[in-house]
Amino acid sequence: MNILVTGGAGFIGANFVYYELKNHPEDRIVCLDKLTYAGNLQTLEEAMKNDNFRFVKGDIADRDCVFRLFEEEKFDIVVNFAAESHVDRSVENPEIFLKTNILGTQTLMDACRKYGIKRYHQVSTDEVYGDLPLDRPDLFFTEETPIHTSSPYSASKASADLLVLAYARTFKLPVSITRCSNNYGPYHFPEKLIPLMISRALADESLPVYGKGENVRDWLYVEDHCSAIDLVIRKGREGEVYNIGGHNERTNLEVVKTILKLLSKPESLITYVTDRPGHDMRYAIDPTKIHTELGWLPETTFDKGIEQTIKWYLDNEDWWKNILEGDYQNYYERMYKNR
Ligand code: NAD
Ligand code: DAU
Repeated sequence: MNILVTGGAGFIGANFVYYELKNHPEDRIVCLDKLTYAGNLQTLEEAMKNDNFRFVKGDIADRDCVFRLFEEEKFDIVVNFAAESHVDRSVENPEIFLKTNILGTQTLMDACRKYGIKRYHQVSTDEVYGDLPLDRPDLFFTEETPIHTSSPYSASKASADLLVLAYARTFKLPVSITRCSNNYGPYHFPEKLIPLMISRALADESLPVYGKGENVRDWLYVEDHCSAIDLVIRKGREGEVYNIGGHNERTNLEVVKTILKLLSKPESLITYVTDRPGHDMRYAIDPTKIHTELGWLPETTFDKGIEQTIKWYLDNEDWWKNILEGDYQNYYERMYKNR
């Protein structure tokens, strides 16, 4: 099969490229990525050595570029990871989120309609469901939970999901959607909680925890997300939404303290800073549907995954230090200086 992976130079997309090359050596993977600040060709160095892999630099919202690529390659499956993905950046500047996340999705689906496709898969997020209260641990997001977004990022992802379902109904496009909880693992960009805290703790710098650090996220090791998407694109039912998550709920403070403990760094590095506007309290996925229909279960517990992740960051300092040396310093200054 010929599979288009958009956003494959980013965190989850790159992990998915490696997952596919390893588990389906008979398939060919083409990665289309704009190489924004979050895209990194260094991440794909090993993939570039594989004859079954091709990298193309381009914007999913650029119709000429996308249609040209579809004309050149006869894709069987499209997996759309490409997105602006950071909530804080969407608060600072929503526009690019609407362009990439909504219009980019539309452009890809228009190309699928014109050139034909076996499956268009949209990589979505649990953030489309909004949040859950802290005092109701019995509540979880199911696929039936109403869409109820909080940030420009989640609103753009929800809009894209609605568009995907509309293309399925109106144009009979064969689609599927997965909505996953927070990922962590190798190649995670250090603007997100876990890699930010690891990289700053290693440098003995303060660790900026928003509000009181009570917000809860449901952490999933990235390889488990990749195995779930792989199952859905090959065996999942057309037109369906599948939630992905592994019941690994932790408060942000618990996560930060775990990282400090594993790195033997003092808790005095923790600094409480002004909260994120509109900050979602708790995410928690009910993965019953993907488990019962496709037999998917996560393999990595949070305790094991966070150890593996810290080890990866220790073994791959070059990867994240290169990022910290670039435009990242300006970003950190801008986002955190007045908090
Ligand atoms: P990321 O920010 O690490 O990577 C995004 C990638 O998309 C980058 O390589 C970037 O260069 C590329 N990109 C951005 N705009 C583009 C455009 N217009 N055209 C082509 N490429 C473009 O993101 P991530 O964390 O790997 O997330 C991937 C997807 O998974 C996103 O759709 C996100 O909404 C979703 N998701 C993420 C998480 C998470 O915890 N990170 C959880 C659930 C769902
Ligand atoms: O749930 C899936 C979503 O998870 C994805 O759709 C998003 O693309 C992904 O970025 C992630 O969103 P979050 O906002 O949950 O992730 P982030 O790593 O930015 O923050 C995790 C929690 O940590 C959140 O409650 C905010 C908090 N936080 C974050 C940063 C960057 C801090 O306390 N301090 C920080 O410096």
